[in-house]
Amino acid sequence: MKELQIQTNVKVFSYEELEPSLAELVDIAKRKTQDAYCPYSHFHVGAAVLLADGQIVTGANQENAAYPSGLCAERTTLFAANANHPQTPVVALALACYTNGHFTKDVASPCGACRQVMLETEKRFGTPIKVILYSEAGCYIFDSAADLLPLSFAADNLEG
Ligand code: THU
Repeated sequence: MKELQIQTNVKVFSYEELEPSLAELVDIAKRKTQDAYCPYSHFHVGAAVLLADGQIVTGANQENAAYPSGLCAERTTLFAANANHPQTPVVALALACYTNGHFTKDVASPCGACRQVMLETEKRFGTPIKVILYSEAGCYIFDSAADLLPLSFAADNLEG
Protein backbone atom coordinates (compact mmCIF):
# COMPACT_ATOMS: atom_id res chain seq x y z
CA MET A 1 0.00 0.00 0.00
CA LYS A 2 1.14 3.53 -0.71
CA GLU A 3 -0.46 6.75 0.29
CA LEU A 4 -0.45 9.66 -2.13
CA GLN A 5 -0.63 13.24 -0.95
CA ILE A 6 -2.50 15.53 -3.33
CA GLN A 7 -1.68 19.19 -2.91
CA THR A 8 -3.21 22.26 -4.43
CA ASN A 9 -2.26 25.91 -4.59
CA VAL A 10 -4.32 28.84 -3.38
CA LYS A 11 -3.26 32.41 -2.69
CA VAL A 12 -5.05 34.51 -0.12
CA PHE A 13 -5.37 38.23 -0.87
CA SER A 14 -7.16 41.02 0.89
CA TYR A 15 -9.51 42.91 -1.44
CA GLU A 16 -7.15 45.91 -1.27
CA GLU A 17 -4.24 43.77 -2.49
CA LEU A 18 -5.99 42.71 -5.71
CA GLU A 19 -4.64 44.08 -8.96
CA PRO A 20 -7.10 46.60 -10.45
CA SER A 21 -8.44 44.36 -13.25
CA LEU A 22 -9.23 41.60 -10.75
CA ALA A 23 -10.73 44.04 -8.25
CA GLU A 24 -13.00 45.28 -11.05
CA LEU A 25 -14.06 41.72 -11.87
CA VAL A 26 -14.81 41.09 -8.18
CA ASP A 27 -16.84 44.32 -8.00
CA ILE A 28 -18.92 43.17 -10.97
CA ALA A 29 -19.47 39.72 -9.42
CA LYS A 30 -20.56 41.42 -6.19
CA ARG A 31 -23.06 43.58 -8.08
CA LYS A 32 -24.38 40.57 -9.97
CA THR A 33 -25.45 38.91 -6.69
CA GLN A 34 -28.38 41.34 -6.90
CA ASP A 35 -29.56 39.64 -10.09
CA ALA A 36 -29.66 36.14 -8.62
CA TYR A 37 -33.04 34.43 -8.81
CA CYS A 38 -32.95 32.53 -5.52
CA PRO A 39 -36.40 32.59 -3.86
CA TYR A 40 -35.77 29.17 -2.31
CA SER A 41 -32.27 29.41 -0.84
CA HIS A 42 -31.96 33.21 -0.55
CA PHE A 43 -28.29 32.57 -1.32
CA HIS A 44 -27.28 35.08 -3.99
CA VAL A 45 -24.28 34.15 -6.12
CA GLY A 46 -22.82 36.54 -8.69
CA ALA A 47 -20.16 35.69 -11.25
CA ALA A 48 -18.12 37.62 -13.77
CA VAL A 49 -15.78 36.15 -16.34
CA LEU A 50 -13.06 37.97 -18.19
CA LEU A 51 -12.39 36.88 -21.76
CA ALA A 52 -9.01 37.00 -23.45
CA ASP A 53 -10.14 39.97 -25.59
CA GLY A 54 -11.12 41.99 -22.51
CA GLN A 55 -14.87 41.43 -22.73
CA ILE A 56 -16.70 40.60 -19.50
CA VAL A 57 -19.64 38.20 -19.28
CA THR A 58 -21.75 38.08 -16.12
CA GLY A 59 -24.28 35.79 -14.51
CA ALA A 60 -26.05 34.78 -11.33
CA ASN A 61 -27.66 31.66 -9.92
CA GLN A 62 -31.10 30.78 -11.26
CA GLU A 63 -33.34 28.61 -9.08
CA ASN A 64 -36.49 26.72 -9.91
CA ALA A 65 -39.45 25.32 -7.96
CA ALA A 66 -38.31 21.98 -9.35
CA TYR A 67 -35.01 22.36 -7.48
CA PRO A 68 -32.64 20.37 -9.74
CA SER A 69 -33.72 22.47 -12.73
CA GLY A 70 -31.91 25.50 -11.33
CA LEU A 71 -28.32 26.36 -12.16
CA CYS A 72 -25.37 27.84 -10.27
CA ALA A 73 -23.92 31.23 -11.11
CA GLU A 74 -20.64 29.81 -12.40
CA ARG A 75 -22.25 27.53 -14.96
CA THR A 76 -24.85 30.12 -15.97
CA THR A 77 -22.00 32.50 -16.69
CA LEU A 78 -19.52 30.11 -18.28
CA PHE A 79 -22.17 28.60 -20.56
CA ALA A 80 -23.26 32.09 -21.63
CA ALA A 81 -19.63 33.07 -22.29
CA ASN A 82 -18.88 29.91 -24.24
CA ALA A 83 -22.15 30.00 -26.20
CA ASN A 84 -21.74 33.64 -27.22
CA HIS A 85 -17.95 33.76 -27.62
CA PRO A 86 -17.04 30.21 -28.66
CA GLN A 87 -13.64 31.21 -30.02
CA THR A 88 -12.52 33.39 -27.12
CA PRO A 89 -10.75 31.89 -24.10
CA VAL A 90 -11.99 32.63 -20.60
CA VAL A 91 -9.03 33.91 -18.58
CA ALA A 92 -10.56 34.74 -15.19
CA LEU A 93 -13.71 34.11 -13.18
CA ALA A 94 -14.72 36.04 -10.06
CA LEU A 95 -17.39 34.87 -7.66
CA ALA A 96 -19.21 36.52 -4.76
CA CYS A 97 -21.96 35.22 -2.49
CA TYR A 98 -24.49 37.26 -0.50
CA THR A 99 -26.97 36.03 2.10
CA ASN A 100 -28.62 37.23 5.31
CA GLY A 101 -27.91 40.84 4.38
CA HIS A 102 -24.16 40.60 3.79
CA PHE A 103 -21.48 39.06 1.62
CA THR A 104 -20.29 35.77 3.04
CA LYS A 105 -17.80 36.21 5.85
CA ASP A 106 -15.71 33.33 4.56
CA VAL A 107 -15.07 32.09 1.06
CA ALA A 108 -17.80 29.87 -0.37
CA SER A 109 -16.21 27.39 -2.71
CA PRO A 110 -17.75 26.45 -6.07
CA CYS A 111 -19.67 23.19 -6.14
CA GLY A 112 -18.16 20.13 -7.80
CA ALA A 113 -20.25 20.39 -10.96
CA CYS A 114 -19.15 24.00 -11.50
CA ARG A 115 -15.51 23.05 -10.98
CA GLN A 116 -15.92 20.38 -13.64
CA VAL A 117 -17.34 22.95 -16.10
CA MET A 118 -14.52 25.41 -15.28
CA LEU A 119 -12.02 22.65 -16.00
CA GLU A 120 -13.67 21.78 -19.32
CA THR A 121 -13.59 25.45 -20.36
CA GLU A 122 -9.94 25.72 -19.38
CA LYS A 123 -9.01 22.60 -21.34
CA ARG A 124 -11.18 23.52 -24.31
CA PHE A 125 -9.19 26.71 -24.89
CA GLY A 126 -5.88 25.49 -23.47
CA THR A 127 -5.76 28.62 -21.32
CA PRO A 128 -5.75 28.61 -17.50
CA ILE A 129 -8.67 30.32 -15.80
CA LYS A 130 -7.76 32.39 -12.75
CA VAL A 131 -10.52 31.87 -10.18
CA ILE A 132 -11.12 34.59 -7.59
CA LEU A 133 -13.43 33.76 -4.68
CA TYR A 134 -14.50 36.85 -2.77
CA SER A 135 -15.49 37.00 0.90
CA GLU A 136 -15.54 39.70 3.56
CA ALA A 137 -12.50 38.04 5.15
CA GLY A 138 -10.47 38.09 1.93
CA CYS A 139 -10.13 36.51 -1.49
CA TYR A 140 -8.86 33.12 -2.51
CA ILE A 141 -7.11 33.08 -5.87
CA PHE A 142 -6.50 29.90 -7.82
CA ASP A 143 -4.22 30.39 -10.83
CA SER A 144 -5.99 27.58 -12.65
CA ALA A 145 -9.37 25.86 -12.43
CA ALA A 146 -7.40 22.59 -12.26
CA ASP A 147 -6.15 23.70 -8.83
CA LEU A 148 -9.77 23.60 -7.63
CA LEU A 149 -10.27 20.07 -8.85
CA PRO A 150 -7.34 17.77 -8.11
CA LEU A 151 -7.64 14.24 -9.48
CA SER A 152 -10.13 15.43 -12.07
CA PHE A 153 -11.81 13.57 -14.88
CA ALA A 154 -11.21 15.08 -18.31
CA ALA A 155 -11.26 14.21 -22.02
CA ASP A 156 -7.90 12.40 -21.90
CA ASN A 157 -9.39 9.89 -19.42
CA LEU A 158 -11.85 8.84 -22.14
CA GLU A 159 -8.91 7.46 -24.11
CA GLY A 160 -8.34 4.82 -21.43
N1 THU B 1 -24.74 28.06 -5.91
C1 THU B 1 -24.04 28.66 -6.90
O1 THU B 1 -24.55 29.49 -7.66
N2 THU B 1 -22.73 28.31 -7.03
C2 THU B 1 -22.10 27.38 -6.27
O2 THU B 1 -20.97 27.03 -6.55
C3 THU B 1 -22.78 26.79 -5.12
C4 THU B 1 -24.22 27.09 -4.98
C5 THU B 1 -26.17 28.40 -5.80
C6 THU B 1 -27.10 27.26 -6.17
C7 THU B 1 -28.33 27.63 -5.39
O3 THU B 1 -29.09 28.55 -6.17
C8 THU B 1 -27.80 28.37 -4.18
O4 THU B 1 -26.47 28.74 -4.48
C9 THU B 1 -27.81 27.52 -2.90
O5 THU B 1 -27.17 26.30 -3.10
